[in-house]
Amino acid sequence: MTKRVRKAVLPVAGLGTRVLPAGKATPKNLLNVVDRPILAYVVAEARAAGIEHLIFIMGRGQGAIEDYFDHNPELETSLESKGKTQLLTEVLGELGRPGEMSFVRQMAPLGLGHAVWCARDLIGDEPFAVMLPDMLMAADVPALAQCVAAHEKVGGNIVAVEPAPPGEAHKYGIVSLETSDGRLNRMTGMVEKPRPGTEPSNLFISGRYVLQPQIFELLGSQQKGAGGEIQLTDAMLRLLESQSFHALEYEGTTYDCGDKLGLLRANVAFALRRPDFADEARRAIQALL
Ligand code: UTP
Repeated sequence: MTKRVRKAVLPVAGLGTRVLPAGKATPKNLLNVVDRPILAYVVAEARAAGIEHLIFIMGRGQGAIEDYFDHNPELETSLESKGKTQLLTEVLGELGRPGEMSFVRQMAPLGLGHAVWCARDLIGDEPFAVMLPDMLMAADVPALAQCVAAHEKVGGNIVAVEPAPPGEAHKYGIVSLETSDGRLNRMTGMVEKPRPGTEPSNLFISGRYVLQPQIFELLGSQQKGAGGEIQLTDAMLRLLESQSFHALEYEGTTYDCGDKLGLLRANVAFALRRPDFADEARRAIQALL
């Protein structure tokens, strides 16, 4: 029987150079999509997948993330006394729900693999999720819940994937598959940013994973890879030699909010998905076009 996925690692310690200058003094994961930070959507997605313990991997100057997920007694008292109960519920967000949050400092941004490795003691010996918090997924069934369901079915390691836009596969981490039958297929490999024309498939790694704890030993002994960083993909490739990996073509769409245009697209897409906001948003967008 597979162990349940109870914990998720959210690495937020990257420098976010692609969204400068916006991300200079505000952590990029607190940038706004419609009316809340990117990270609020990702945390809600984690909770919807049954995650009990969220482990944030933090960098320098990111204390505002802890504040966002903590109580603000002055604000709450003020909203309560004015009878603004709906707004109070929104402000409380995930706070009222059971579950833990831990904040671990990554002393230097040595790469995504190193960031994940920083969570090893808090994860221990159980499968866990990794969520790249600048990737927002618009999906009817939350993307991580789809990954957790796939893990319950086939065990091992799960990587969420999505077809890359035509001609863009070389910009991403791309998987190769043993079979191509339905949405859940056994993987044979993965490659970061393949040269155009050499892509093993058009399916890119979209930022949600379920991994087995043996990844930590590999990350701990790993040399720097592409870009001088400790890469998660390199450790996953080594783990693939001894464990099963499945790619899940999840049902939904990924928006890369770590990129200026991606953040803009996410704002439009999420505004149009919001029942309380869609009509007004559509009118405003049409007026601009
Ligand atoms: P990115 O590749 O998006 O890097 O990292 P970045 O530094 O955040 O952004 P750019 O490319 O400079 O604009 C993927 C994820 O891994 C985290 C990032 O916060 C992001 O969520 N990360 C990356 C870390 O937590 N630590 C690192 O050392 C590197």
